[in-house]
Amino acid sequence: MAKKILVAGGAGYIGSHVQKQLLEEGFEVLVFDDLSSGDEVNILPQAEFIRGNILDKPVLEMAMSEGIDGVVHLAAKKAVGESMVNPELYAENNLAGSINILNAMVKYGVKHIVFSSSAAVYGMPEYVPIDEKHPIAPINYYGYTKRAIEENMEWYAKLGKLDYAALRYFNAVGYAADKSITGRERNPQNLMPIIMEAATGKREKFAIFGNDYDTPDGTCVRDYVHVSDLAKAHTAAMKKLMADGKSFTVNLGTGKGTSVKEIVEACEKVIGRKLNYDYAARRAGDPAKLTANADKAKELLGWKPQYTDVEDIIRTVWNLEI
Ligand code: UD1
Repeated sequence: MAKKILVAGGAGYIGSHVQKQLLEEGFEVLVFDDLSSGDEVNILPQAEFIRGNILDKPVLEMAMSEGIDGVVHLAAKKAVGESMVNPELYAENNLAGSINILNAMVKYGVKHIVFSSSAAVYGMPEYVPIDEKHPIAPINYYGYTKRAIEENMEWYAKLGKLDYAALRYFNAVGYAADKSITGRERNPQNLMPIIMEAATGKREKFAIFGNDYDTPDGTCVRDYVHVSDLAKAHTAAMKKLMADGKSFTVNLGTGKGTSVKEIVEACEKVIGRKLNYDYAARRAGDPAKLTANADKAKELLGWKPQYTDVEDIIRTVWNLEI
């Protein structure tokens, strides 16, 4: 019988791609989402949907009692800047909400959780590419919430309550190439959706934050990984937990660094015209370079990103606009 997975945050940008991948690999999917930042258009017809907030325990428990075999948890606030101004919101949604998920799992005997973590748990890189042995020292409250949830999962696993996979994403970009996921993020804070808003006239221009970093062209270097590749790591992680019940934590990135300027130039190439932008001051808390060593994901999950070229990745985003 097909295994049924509850995807918390399954209407969101990454969650909807995870939902799609799970369905393609023969899982049943129950999307649990409050649509606060997710979009109903992202929920595929084959998925079940419960509109609910992870802070609403009765609704969450009702969903968890629907014969669930595993949980993928991506329901979270993710704006780094906002988390430093309004940590209460992040404590409530990310910390309390995640505890509710873990406790509902324990209550209904759901054993496996794949958790959406972040490279933000590492803080300022001491070396790149970053492997999982790199010191953990988040420099923003958002990153702290991700680490605190990992720690709770570690304890619950140690105490025999469940097993977990913590997936530490680097920079998620792109859209499913078949255009089945179409919901764009509202009020985006991340580079790629901001550039796309400028490209489609939703905003007049954008800014590159800092051009005096210690990098080849002075702009920050990041590890951009396609969301469909990320999604595949979630299904692989869930299958592994179901097979051997051994918890693990892995980085998900390509290992390749791309600067903000290179991203902008690649966008201009794909779009076929110049974009309107300025150089602005550095954004607080931005490391110069952040790239992943994802050898562990390769080893444990056989995971290898299919998208290695940023122009190919950008094309999957731009194709939604044309
Ligand atoms: C951040 C977090 C990451 C988190 C993600 C989710 C860190 C180090 N990284 O990624 O863990 O999961 O947010 O939101 O905390 N940029 C511009 N102009 C813009 C927007 C961004 O130049 O208008 C630059 C940034 O300075 C950065 C790069 O583009 O160098 C990527 O920024 P962004 O997309 O916001 O992602 P991160 O900050 O790398």
